[in-house]
Amino acid sequence: MKLGVCYYPEHWPEERWAIDARMMREAGITLVRVGEFAWSRLEPEPGHYTFDWLERAIEVLASEGLQVIIGTPTTTPPKWLVDQMPDLLPVDAEGRVRGFGSRRHYCFSHLGYREECRRIVTALAERFGQHPAVVAWQTDNEYANHNTGLSYSPAALTGFRIWLAQKYGDIDALNAAWGTVFWSMEYASFDAVGLPNLTVAEAMPIHKLDFQRYSSDQVVAFNAVQVEVLRALSPGRDVLHNFMGKPTLFDHWRLSQDLDIATWDSYPLGFLDLDDCSEEHKLRYLRVGDPDFQAFFHDLYRGCGRGRWWVMEQQPGPVNWAPHNPAPAPGAVRLWTWEAFAAGAEVVSYFRWRQAPFAQEQMHEALLLPDGTPNEGLDVASQVAKEIDGQTEVGASPARVALVFDYQSDWAWQIQPQGREFNYRKLVLGFYRALRRHGITIDVVPPTPEGVTGYDLVLMPGLMSVDATLMSALGQNGQVALLGPRTGSRTPAFSIPHTLPPGPAAQASLPIRVTRVETLPPNATLPVIGHERSLFEIWREVVVANEDVEILDRTEDGQIAFCARGGIHYVSGQPNAAYADRVVAHLLAQAGITATKLHRDIRVRDNGRDRYVFNHGPDPVDISEIVAGRTAILGGTVLPPCGVGRFRSVA
Ligand code: GAL
Repeated sequence: MKLGVCYYPEHWPEERWAIDARMMREAGITLVRVGEFAWSRLEPEPGHYTFDWLERAIEVLASEGLQVIIGTPTTTPPKWLVDQMPDLLPVDAEGRVRGFGSRRHYCFSHLGYREECRRIVTALAERFGQHPAVVAWQTDNEYANHNTGLSYSPAALTGFRIWLAQKYGDIDALNAAWGTVFWSMEYASFDAVGLPNLTVAEAMPIHKLDFQRYSSDQVVAFNAVQVEVLRALSPGRDVLHNFMGKPTLFDHWRLSQDLDIATWDSYPLGFLDLDDCSEEHKLRYLRVGDPDFQAFFHDLYRGCGRGRWWVMEQQPGPVNWAPHNPAPAPGAVRLWTWEAFAAGAEVVSYFRWRQAPFAQEQMHEALLLPDGTPNEGLDVASQVAKEIDGQTEVGASPARVALVFDYQSDWAWQIQPQGREFNYRKLVLGFYRALRRHGITIDVVPPTPEGVTGYDLVLMPGLMSVDATLMSALGQNGQVALLGPRTGSRTPAFSIPHTLPPGPAAQASLPIRVTRVETLPPNATLPVIGHERSLFEIWREVVVANEDVEILDRTEDGQIAFCARGGIHYVSGQPNAAYADRVVAHLLAQAGITATKLHRDIRVRDNGRDRYVFNHGPDPVDISEIVAGRTAILGGTVLPPCGVGRFRSVA
């Protein structure tokens, strides 16, 4: 467990660096990320590298015993490079070129820009790759942020055609797979295929999905260039990237295979303000953040990093980018930090060291005020540093429950929501929340046989396609599983399976057919019989089942709401919270997992011998029942608002 900070020496006079480094050390910070936006200072003119200042900054940090993560500056190509290579700029879906003047202004498909990135990263790694203070590299910054996952540029068009030719081999295969006979869209060659933007009516779902898959592959390939350079020139250092909380426009599972560590940037108050949850929920958690949102991404990125993960940027005060930017409650920043450590984070790093009085983020708080004196965040960092002092243990023991998260499904259902409110992430998060309300610790896993193996309970709502290998891994050794709604409802080519959803692979275990789908506007719901306040909302399916399928619940109109055969279950609509609780409680009981219905503000995480308990609410809560028989290491049995408890089992 270590604390870090994001630092921009290029923003401050050199005389100040030593003061900053000393203050960092005194606060208990041990890691410092530098460099990720500094290209114009590292190479002010083509080929003229000015790395000396960075070397001096690293020396100053190292003289206080601080370790350094260098961020490659490729998220900010400098003006001279954009002028030299103007077509590196991304193009939006309306066909407009997105301009210089902020950041992330490049197109992932532009091969010339990729080579420029290889060049600057090579130069940096040659200079700093073996520096004893440099322990890790961050590639770029927040891939796909600011909606940069898709670019409709000429470079993307060329790349997409090559990608399609490789995927389909000949154009007839593409025509057959896509179903281009519909509306006379048949192509005579790959060179005739365009990008799926600027069409008169909607483009084909598979055209969009293949373009999204292609675009995701470009992010992976862009990153791989840098990883290759860093591995060769900076042996023994970890390579990581800082993912975001919301954007899903590339496959993070796939990209993470090339990294040593997955990290993400956690801004709980900004995320909550941007969310479309109820006003009551927003107000209750205004200064603490949603009780489940951060935890979900901790679990997702722990999965992506195969156990190794960090919070690279942790909000320490009001941010500047949400519609409203409240200040954290006293104790909230500490709670967020501990939540991450409890989930196995190796490092929590605050963004940023000192608030910048100039430019875009002048309203974004930091550990220091713009005048260089300490702000509240620094006190929090110092307090947590004392609490974790001497505790080196990290890691998360595997959970018993897994929840599948699949980027392709998110893309597919964004392309074809069918009901405006249908959102894959919300569907998955709904089940995650219900599990957490029952005191359950969860692993988020990819939709692969290895991903789902070894758990007592696996939930895979909304998974677009299921194949026979995935299905044969489910339900092994008494494992209980949940499918639906929408699980298995499309082939990988974005067609309805010939045996109807959930498709032949799932039907081999659970013989049901989905014969109708209806979507509901927000003010319409469908009650489920026999369970108080239980409803389907947004999405519901009509399911026809074989006689050997057990019907567990029905909707008010007499259709199947929840059914099972063996351990494989299916829920045929999007449950509200009350019904998600009912479904989850049933599944947990089937899987032999003890559930504890928690107070609405309390969340629990079990990790090895430790049980962590967090209070996200405004009132003190007595937690003695959930920690009975354990020894307190941190906190007590009455948790104050923002309270953190850590309790060890004796055995
Ligand atoms: C992150 C980004 C940082 C900074 C921060 C502000 O998304 O990586 O560079 O802009 O947001 O909250």
